[in-house]
Amino acid sequence: MNARLDEAPAAASARQAGTSPIDRALSATMRGLDRHRLREQFAAQGAFLYLNDFLPGSLTARLAESARSLVPAVNRNYLPGHKQGGSVSRHTIDRLAPHIAELYRSRALIDWLEGITGDTLQPSPDDDPHAYALYYYTREGDHIGWHYDTSYYEGRRYTLLIGVIDDSSCRLDYELHTRTPGAQPVAGSIQYPPGAIVLFDGDKLRHRITPSRAGEMRVSLTFEYVTDARMRPWRRFISNMKDAIAYFGFRQVFRSRRPSDTSTAGRETA
Ligand SMILES: [Fe+2]
Repeated sequence: MNARLDEAPAAASARQAGTSPIDRALSATMRGLDRHRLREQFAAQGAFLYLNDFLPGSLTARLAESARSLVPAVNRNYLPGHKQGGSVSRHTIDRLAPHIAELYRSRALIDWLEGITGDTLQPSPDDDPHAYALYYYTREGDHIGWHYDTSYYEGRRYTLLIGVIDDSSCRLDYELHTRTPGAQPVAGSIQYPPGAIVLFDGDKLRHRITPSRAGEMRVSLTFEYVTDARMRPWRRFISNMKDAIAYFGFRQVFRSRRPSDTSTAGRETA
């Protein structure tokens, strides 16, 4: 899975023959990146990597356009002392902006992420509203306090943050190596612009988003990939309650299923 950079041109073009426009655009961008060096950087930073220019401009522009059009669908949440902001779950994205789901499942993107993390990655299950979601910071004081993106799954949970819109003073503050035995934590802080990415192991990176000011707008897209999608029932319950209260609302998290609703892609129970 790490041999793409070394592929012969004929093999590479044959591989691309059946891919989507999103795959082809991403492949063209990623060919210019030194995956081996980035993988070393990811490991040295305790499973964390920031790239300030990753997505092709055409894809970033389309994300920003969708993020603006989805403002009426934003679910606002407020947890005193911890979190204030808006979010749009994967279920709403499936219905109103399915190209985001296509980007999430892009084989070219997942191959590249596997090359950086060294893990085999799976998309999150269909009923996980975090699998791909948009987070909005549009009112004064929107923020999220220090936390980890804890995995409730049996395996690791990787987070990929993608900058979509940033007309704000919000910062992603983080601490590397808080759970690396024998290591001193290393603090960092970034404002990631549209098209930038942040990749990390959710259980290893302590992080927060600082409060927005009046008149600002910031939208970030989050993708979540897992290494083992099994989840014990009590963890599922805790995870669902957290998602309903802190992010998407009970209606999005505890969606009723029709008997035929084996896949949630493109479906929304009314
Ligand atoms: Fe987070």
